[in-house]
Amino acid sequence: MGRASTPQVVDAPEARIEALLSRMTLEEKIGQLTLYGDAIRMGADKANPARHALEVQALREEIRAGRVGALFQGTGARSGREVQRLAVEDSRLHIPLLFGADVIHGMRTVFPIPLGEAASFDPELARRTARAAAREATALGIKWTFAPMVDIARDQRWGRVSEGAGEDVYLGSLLAAARVRGFQGSSVAAPDALLACPKHFAAYGAVSAGMDYNTVDLSLVTLWQTYLPPFKAAFDAGALTTMSAFNEINGVPATANPWLLGTVLHERWGFKGFVVSDYTADEELVKHGFAADARDAARLAFNAGVDMSMQSGLYQKYLPGLVRSGAVTMARIDEAVRRVLTVKQALGLFDAPYASLDPDAEQRIGDEQTTRLAREAAQRAVVLLRNDHGLLPLRRAGQRIALIGPFASGRDELFGPWTLYGDESRAVDLATGLRAALADPASLIVVHGSRVESPLPGGIAAAVAAARQSDVVLLAVGESTGMSGEAQSRTEITIPAPQLALAQAVARTGKPLVVLLRNGRALALNGAVRDAPAILVTWFLGSQAGNAIADILFGKVAPSGHLPVSFPVESGQEPFYYDHKSTGRPSPERGDVAFTARYRTTGNLALYPFGHGLTYSPLRIDSLRLDSAQLPWDGRLVVHARVVNAGQRDAVALPQLYIHDRVASLTRPVRELKGFRQVKVAAGASSDVEFELTRADLAFVGADLERRAEPGWFDVWVGLSSTQGPGSAFELLAPGAVVPPAAAAHN
Ligand code: GLC
Repeated sequence: MGRASTPQVVDAPEARIEALLSRMTLEEKIGQLTLYGDAIRMGADKANPARHALEVQALREEIRAGRVGALFQGTGARSGREVQRLAVEDSRLHIPLLFGADVIHGMRTVFPIPLGEAASFDPELARRTARAAAREATALGIKWTFAPMVDIARDQRWGRVSEGAGEDVYLGSLLAAARVRGFQGSSVAAPDALLACPKHFAAYGAVSAGMDYNTVDLSLVTLWQTYLPPFKAAFDAGALTTMSAFNEINGVPATANPWLLGTVLHERWGFKGFVVSDYTADEELVKHGFAADARDAARLAFNAGVDMSMQSGLYQKYLPGLVRSGAVTMARIDEAVRRVLTVKQALGLFDAPYASLDPDAEQRIGDEQTTRLAREAAQRAVVLLRNDHGLLPLRRAGQRIALIGPFASGRDELFGPWTLYGDESRAVDLATGLRAALADPASLIVVHGSRVESPLPGGIAAAVAAARQSDVVLLAVGESTGMSGEAQSRTEITIPAPQLALAQAVARTGKPLVVLLRNGRALALNGAVRDAPAILVTWFLGSQAGNAIADILFGKVAPSGHLPVSFPVESGQEPFYYDHKSTGRPSPERGDVAFTARYRTTGNLALYPFGHGLTYSPLRIDSLRLDSAQLPWDGRLVVHARVVNAGQRDAVALPQLYIHDRVASLTRPVRELKGFRQVKVAAGASSDVEFELTRADLAFVGADLERRAEPGWFDVWVGLSSTQGPGSAFELLAPGAVVPPAAAAHN
């Protein structure tokens, strides 16, 4: 098995797996359940704490002995062939290795962080960038990515919000599916298919107080309503692996949770793939106080449904004894091995173990098409929060521009916290992108003025002097790569004080100020940054960051991004999300009303709400119309709206459809996103848009944990954000009820 030979009679896949399984020793079976960092090729794992790393020679011997079935973080087609040969040629059963890695939003060519890409509200774009990432990753011998991260994140203090799709389950589910389809392509057997691994299963984004790795304690209704749907969408899109999360859920760690990994994943959802633990998450069951010791941890994780152990080595070490003692059955061992071998077979590894280890394929890395896509994705991720008096777009000639701030230049802060393989040599930083776009590059003055989290001696004076010599100031401030991502939770999600001091000083010059935010999360904008007349959210935009920001600043492309996360007024409002409940004492959107749900000095609104995003033309939604005020139980209702562009530039609008279930057996959010469209609207013109609603769109998870819709009245809005736009109402009729004649006549 595994040699490139062509068997006379090609067995049915299951028969081949069973035949192989019957020949495997227990040690070889457990080898298929063991994943290690590729110490042969990667050196130190930059993304994880150094634990249980094997020496190179020891790892080579483990592979030859069939005691390791997968490696991660190693790259290179040529070197990959050498490592694969240890398994395919030297081991007894020639079972190919599966090469994995964290390819989250690009490989050598880096796309915007997933949260930034989510701002495009374009699942097709997400599919395209994932596909491009897959082509580059497989060209470097990687066949499995630990992505997409599909954790809904409602607390911006959590650093890993940068990796996902933000706070909304509807958008998050669409992007989860799109990214899986992009990574895996049309067939997982194709040489450029990259096996997806939606993570972190489950509810990692619900960590208490936004502190990474912290306790998750939430109702099962919320788990089913908000945190599980993106995983279901990812599996429905064809994902064949998933990664168990570090966190507990209501006292039971996800990595030892038979209800989650067995009942939900396999029994209820029919998942056919395998589960890999997050990095040493099985070993961490001891620290959780859930396992008595490492042996117990191996037993609990494996019997709960974690098929493959990442990096801890626990399965290698303890499963043989656990099987001998009867604490783990051979049937469970075979079940896990069967899952892993079935996925390897689906990838085509048995028939062509070297297909994705083709040195010639490396030519397709960084090709022009991928570079163009990186620039398009970066443009589409940018969100224009504010543009007073039409300050933007800027002229490309005839003015002096001061580019100030720690992110004004430098390629080291473009990719964000989760990029291990990006090629910085081909990346375009902000200063370079601006100079390339300006008629006279010498009209740009670049001054850092401050470090990210500490002052720069003389920096503010130099920045103020540069501002005084200029006609307009671009202020590039925000978070460094190291301030978001894993293990980077922040209690204050503000602009660091040294940068704020710089902003205040530059603002005092009175020059027009354009803020360019560098950020991995929503921020609680403060001081002169908050008060700037023009603010662009530029996230970490990847390889083409500088060109894309210049394209937006000078109007080559109009901004079209919208916020996938709410920007609060203050950090203390977190967790903050638009689809919150009313409470019995809702605070009115305007005015301070005593004894209502609000903070003493801060209202209950976002500074910039979910879905918000401006462009270079004044857009509005008007003439909302329903084709009926009644929606029959098995019927459909069409919502019509018109987008008006009162400006001089063509625009792309994002009309969003929201509903509110007024009365239900469980309280429902004040708004829920149920649809959005990218709509082109010519200058001075309008475009019609329509959305269709059925009962399925109105369903929610009831107290019995089943999805249900309930007859009654619903508010409905179409807006350009979650807080504005005309509204109407309709009634979902009970089963069998018919639209009253008067109403029918009315429509
Ligand atoms: C990390 C992350 C996970 C990643 C894995 C391998 O701790 O939690 O997202 O895929 O380990 O690097």
